[in-house]
Amino acid sequence: MTQDELKTLVGRAALNYVPLGEVVGVGTGSTVNRFIEALATMKDQIRGAVSSSVASTERLRAIGIRVFDANEVEDLAVYIDGADEIDGRGCMIKGGGAALTREKIVAAQSRRFVCIADDSKRVDMLGKFPLPVEIVPMATQRIVRQFAALGGTARVRLKDGQPLVTDNGQHILDVTGLAIRDPLAFETEVNQWPGVVTVGVFAQQKAAVCLLGTSGGVQVLN
Ligand code: A5P
Repeated sequence: MTQDELKTLVGRAALNYVPLGEVVGVGTGSTVNRFIEALATMKDQIRGAVSSSVASTERLRAIGIRVFDANEVEDLAVYIDGADEIDGRGCMIKGGGAALTREKIVAAQSRRFVCIADDSKRVDMLGKFPLPVEIVPMATQRIVRQFAALGGTARVRLKDGQPLVTDNGQHILDVTGLAIRDPLAFETEVNQWPGVVTVGVFAQQKAAVCLLGTSGGVQVLN
């Protein structure tokens, strides 16, 4: 099966976790796009969605799903999103699509994070995928030096030759060379650096369930 077919497989499998009659949290990325396509078949069975990005909001609205502002609803039963890496405990690296801040906000509002991913995302230790960190631009060089002190190399993510600007008007650093042995401790530390908006390690908001697309079918990891 191709990677795209695996994404379609887990996108469809995630329909089993959609709470009927409720609002569902929806993430961002190419795997979630397959989930949103599948969700079209259930659009009359849910009240709507809270979305983690402008891109997903547009896709949801295009298929006729009402998108609520996160402040309009209290907690969500389920948040469904992809990952760039996921370890055996459900800790993840996210933010390859630059939506990590809103993803973490909606994940924190949800009782259960259901991760959908193809099996290339499963790792033993986080850190091979360049870690996305959303930052306030004036803090860039100091945060680059702080990552260097941890052995990491941080680069500003570019789009069309200019720093990429997130949905929140901030920039993204992509950090290579890190071996994240203790995701929760790492997330807690980097969260405290002034100018860091969101670090793309999801340990506090880790996945409760991962639907992993493999050539043998969908593996459910709890
Ligand atoms: C978006 O900012 C990310 O966190 C995505 O969830 C992650 O990059 C997975 O994306 P794909 O499903 O496109 O691999």
